[in-house]
Amino acid sequence: MVELRNDLASDWQQATCYLNGEWTALADAKVSVLDRGFIFGDGVYEVIAVDTVDSIRAPFRAHAHFARLQRSLDAVRIDNPLVVEQWLDLTAEVIERNPWPRQLVYVQITRGAAKRDHPFPAGVAPTVFVSTTPWPSIPSEQIEQGVAAVTHADERWLHCDIKSTSLLGNVLMKQYAVDNGASETVMLRDGFLTEGSSTNVSVIKNGVISTPPKSVQLLPGITVDGIAHIAQQHGVNVDVRPVAASELKTADEIWLCSSGRELLAIASLDGTAVGPEAIAGKPGPMYRKMHQWFQQAKREDARDWVSQRGARSIETRASKRVA
Ligand code: PDD
Repeated sequence: MVELRNDLASDWQQATCYLNGEWTALADAKVSVLDRGFIFGDGVYEVIAVDTVDSIRAPFRAHAHFARLQRSLDAVRIDNPLVVEQWLDLTAEVIERNPWPRQLVYVQITRGAAKRDHPFPAGVAPTVFVSTTPWPSIPSEQIEQGVAAVTHADERWLHCDIKSTSLLGNVLMKQYAVDNGASETVMLRDGFLTEGSSTNVSVIKNGVISTPPKSVQLLPGITVDGIAHIAQQHGVNVDVRPVAASELKTADEIWLCSSGRELLAIASLDGTAVGPEAIAGKPGPMYRKMHQWFQQAKREDARDWVSQRGARSIETRASKRVA
């Protein structure tokens, strides 16, 4: 059992990772310069948050992440090299092999290494990479004060529903936020909200959470889905519908969410405080409630993970005996 340590935020280079069937130090993991991930951005990925709650270190909504991975692989026609149980085993192992109580597990599959040529190469094995990094606590001032965001036209391609490693459009949009002293760029297409550069965005008005529907224009986020589920459990209405850009100006609250940032309130958008005058520029009451519920949902998910993994390790031992 690896000792759990809290102070390793700068030690990410020490991670142990999995590359094409081998466990290795991250610093020693190497892929070919001809890997199509490097040459074409021809790959897909997942990022899974791992937290330690009630002394249980567990990934959040791991099954949903591997369902989405399958969807992305199907969309780009890469055969999934592993079945879900193997992915879950790998996730459990990468967490176990690394010391951090909070981690972001990264899973990437590319079409593999081949002579540079656009068509899919025949008979090439995909490159499979699973690693993890320490995930520092979300700064309490971001939770308590919210974050600044800016808007920008969504100039990306029309397959934003695929979690592709071709992220240049998203990278440029995140840098736009940084260049403007903000924490996220909220993107707009044809007068409607799509998503953030690496987050989903929801608008809250009169106690209803409105979230753009799943489409080729945005990533079907695991966190935003989780929030919709939690809202429904607590009797809060979720309206999945196109959200007009103008609604951002009149919203009571605006939220962003992702695996890495969980749930944050947008306190200012393009320099203007978000929300009704009395509470403008501060996370609103719905945010505070949802943030608490979200932490509770993580607890429940962690307990489920442990009970499923417990059953799984017994199963694995039994199948090893049979083999
Ligand atoms: N990004 N939209 C985009 C464009 C994203 O890149 C992400 C996540 C999300 C939120 O998805 P989820 O709730 O499943 O994390 C929405 C990850 C964290 C990343 O690229 O690092």
